[in-house]
Amino acid sequence: MNGPQEPPMKILFASSEAQPLIKTGGLADVAGALPLALGHFGQDVRLVLPAYPQAVERAIPLQPVAELYLPGSPEPVRLLEGRLGGEIPLYLVDAPELFERPGNPYVGADGHDWPDNPERFALFCRAVTAIALNHAGLDWHPDLVHCNDWQTGLVPALLAGEGSRPATLFTIHNLAYQGVFDRAVFDRLHLNPALWSPQGLEFHGHFSFIKGGLAFADWITTVSPTYAREILTPAFGYGLEGLLRHREERLEGVLNGIDYRQWDPASDPAIPHHYDADRFALKAGNKRALQREMGLPEEDDVLLFGHIGRLVEQKGVDMILDVLPGLMRRPGTQLVLLGSGSAELERALQEAGRRFPDRVATYIGYDEPLAHRVEAGCDCFLMPSRFEPCGLNQLYSLRYGSVPLVHRTGGLADTVVDATPRNLLDGRATGFVFDQPDSAALWRAMERAMEFWGRPEGAWERLAVNGMRQDFSWDASARRYLEIYRRAIDDPAPNPLAGTA
Ligand code: ADP
Ligand code: GLC
Repeated sequence: MNGPQEPPMKILFASSEAQPLIKTGGLADVAGALPLALGHFGQDVRLVLPAYPQAVERAIPLQPVAELYLPGSPEPVRLLEGRLGGEIPLYLVDAPELFERPGNPYVGADGHDWPDNPERFALFCRAVTAIALNHAGLDWHPDLVHCNDWQTGLVPALLAGEGSRPATLFTIHNLAYQGVFDRAVFDRLHLNPALWSPQGLEFHGHFSFIKGGLAFADWITTVSPTYAREILTPAFGYGLEGLLRHREERLEGVLNGIDYRQWDPASDPAIPHHYDADRFALKAGNKRALQREMGLPEEDDVLLFGHIGRLVEQKGVDMILDVLPGLMRRPGTQLVLLGSGSAELERALQEAGRRFPDRVATYIGYDEPLAHRVEAGCDCFLMPSRFEPCGLNQLYSLRYGSVPLVHRTGGLADTVVDATPRNLLDGRATGFVFDQPDSAALWRAMERAMEFWGRPEGAWERLAVNGMRQDFSWDASARRYLEIYRRAIDDPAPNPLAGTA
């Protein structure tokens, strides 16, 4: 933390998405909230993002403030300046031929990655690097660049060779996405040939964006303490565990917070009935409204399970589908599913909704307000993720009194306390946790939840309200980031290529 006489740190926060400008997942929630939390601590934080059309539309008013001449772009790249949340400066990197496209930042309408993703994010990294070195004509020299995920991975590598450079922090939000491309792509990007080395960006004969962050950043964080340990093992490290172990002294897990201004059942504009821990009974109105909206019978007594997520293997939705026949044999239960992603899982979810119209309702698509209504309306939120670096939906569920039921992994293990007799007695329990990432273990946990739902004397409400009273605001995590920034600035890491030819 800054003492009273310490000047604010100048922090450039680089991300490929940020709420409310553009979002595909939890990275956007973090990049939209953490910079504001740091700003509230008096730091000079600025956010930089590619100028996707949705981001431009939502960030208006914007002013062009600079033109950058960057390798890889025949045209000068404009920087547009706006504000995030009306508070902190926002720069959008405007390279229309790369970023002015419909839909998703990473994927085209055909469901495949944009083929020029390496060119797109290499250019973004070069723009971030130019700002970081005060070469953008902004008269602003950051002390530290905070990079997030592979799309920003080249920044620490590009900066490492510079004499007077800011410190770098690289945050891993999900090690499963690495930005790995062919050697020919590396050559095409006109990067310093010295970066092609096993100590640099080479990864088993391929070119890895994320290695730029992992090998070159002064400090590395990931988004929960448990995931920070998991990624040191082959099961979670995807071949990068050796490098991460090598850098272990500069690697830390900092749990994400959540933005209680966006996610507060007492004031959420997306939900029909407001409530809080002292007025838990009012939550029932949201359950009825959700049942109505999703075409399910409006019944107070059924146990309504919910799930929201990207439909990818990570999230374990296939396990939910596996337990469906068993669940359908249990009267008094319903299930609401919201997601989009793999075509196969989308079809399977829709099919489940058609087969059990009175019990299962699915919505395929990305719908932010509906996500809020599912959080407010369900009783128990399922998160059987095979791995989960942090996970935000279990935190939203805790806040909304929708008891989370989770696999003990990553951030799920760090945030949900299992309703064992002991934890219940100690008043610590907040949800249901299971140990094996398989459908049998998920089903046993769901059976425990069903048994608990039937308990008398407000047992369920006590469990839910205990979750609602937990504090996962950004405050503590933002403070921890400030300490890490300070350390990275005071004690830069040596260049891993120093001394190599
Ligand atoms: P991840 O980043 O791996 O997708 P997180 O749990 O960290 O997982 O964050 C997911 C975020 O995306 C949450 O804010 C969640 O509500 C949102 N989300 C995911 N799928 C959808 C969807 N289909 N509609 C609306 N919001 C969604
Ligand atoms: C990633 C992870 C998720 C995490 C989010 C924000 O998308 O999959 O677990 O919550 O990033 O850090």
